[in-house]
Amino acid sequence: MVLLVPPLGHSIPLYLDKKLLDVDYFYDGTGHKLFGLKMKTEDLLKVNSAKIGDFTAKEEHHTIERVLSGITPSGSTLHLGNYAGAVKPQFDLLEKGVESYYFVADLHALTTIQNREKLERCIISNVFDYIALGLDPQKGIYFRQSDVAEHSMLAIVLANYIPFGLTNRMHAFKDKLAKGVSKESINMGLFNYPILMAADILLYKPSGVPVGEDQRQHVEFARETARFFNIAHGETFPIPEPLIQEGNASKVVGTDGERKMSKSLGNIINIFDDEEVIRRQIVGSYTDPNRKHATDPGNVEGNPIFIYHDIVNDDKDEVENLKRRYREGKVGDVEVKEKLFEAHKRKFSEARRKRRDLENDIELAKEILEKGAEKARKVAKETMREVYRVVGITNKLSR
Ligand code: TRP
Repeated sequence: MVLLVPPLGHSIPLYLDKKLLDVDYFYDGTGHKLFGLKMKTEDLLKVNSAKIGDFTAKEEHHTIERVLSGITPSGSTLHLGNYAGAVKPQFDLLEKGVESYYFVADLHALTTIQNREKLERCIISNVFDYIALGLDPQKGIYFRQSDVAEHSMLAIVLANYIPFGLTNRMHAFKDKLAKGVSKESINMGLFNYPILMAADILLYKPSGVPVGEDQRQHVEFARETARFFNIAHGETFPIPEPLIQEGNASKVVGTDGERKMSKSLGNIINIFDDEEVIRRQIVGSYTDPNRKHATDPGNVEGNPIFIYHDIVNDDKDEVENLKRRYREGKVGDVEVKEKLFEAHKRKFSEARRKRRDLENDIELAKEILEKGAEKARKVAKETMREVYRVVGITNKLSR
């Protein structure tokens, strides 16, 4: 161990990326577990010339030219987890001028909502959420999945290139089985869900798919599907990259401090609910379970209330100040939560007002979707024509 260090020490500076400090051990040499030596990270810090810094290159998405993502309407308005994990990164791409396609996956919603009024309400509610939060239909193409028939058409074709085994291993399906639902009674829409989703994605040949961590497996599935199809018919579909937030944003912890924020677990902080509801959600959130008094030094990392501050509080000085005082045992949970509530109001009051206005203007929402569908259809038709052509279905749609 000691022998390995001197060549690096003293005269030659040893640059250590701060990410290295996140791990306890690393492998020297080839980096290969079999041929390298396992070393303790903390020993590296003992080298005199060690310099710690942030040396990793920031990943820039030069190649991301077109993105696409869908949102299954679930009947509830968006919460902080949806916002940080999916909506915000999608809007950021849009702001950067990336060509963006976003759609309400109403056909996917049929797997769970089989009630006409409810489905319609859910779809519109989803449109309100997105527009209210700032989706600019002039910049991005926003539409409804069922308005572009090519999604269904492509799914039927792609199903022939996807092995049963791959579909059988998908989480959404396996989770249902784990909940005790019998295989015999699971609806085929749920089983086929990833196939339709692969069609949603590949139809637009996007370079990236911005989604939350929970959708990673589905995007993987679409990539596999593209590979299978390309092997059979030559390069037709580019392989899309899943664009998933790193760190806390990809999997925002719920107010129970344990599980991912999710409506069905009842551990959410809403964006559009009544202020009283939101206040209660914030007040009821877990913080540092080991801290009994406001004068005890507290833990900020992984603490739900500070994760939420990072998401909603644009006053970064205030956040830093609260974190410092929390660590030093100089601020109580009550104040941290009160400030979070105020920050939530600052961040979302405009969106909430906009949403209330939209609720009175359903026609506007429908118009946005229709205009979006017109634009989406142009790309979708083109891909479908190509697909029919390469597989050998020569009809009036492939000409
Ligand atoms: N499955 C996604 C969800 O539940 C929604 C979705 C449908 C999607 N089709 C998609 C996301 C295509 C990205 C790309 O949220």
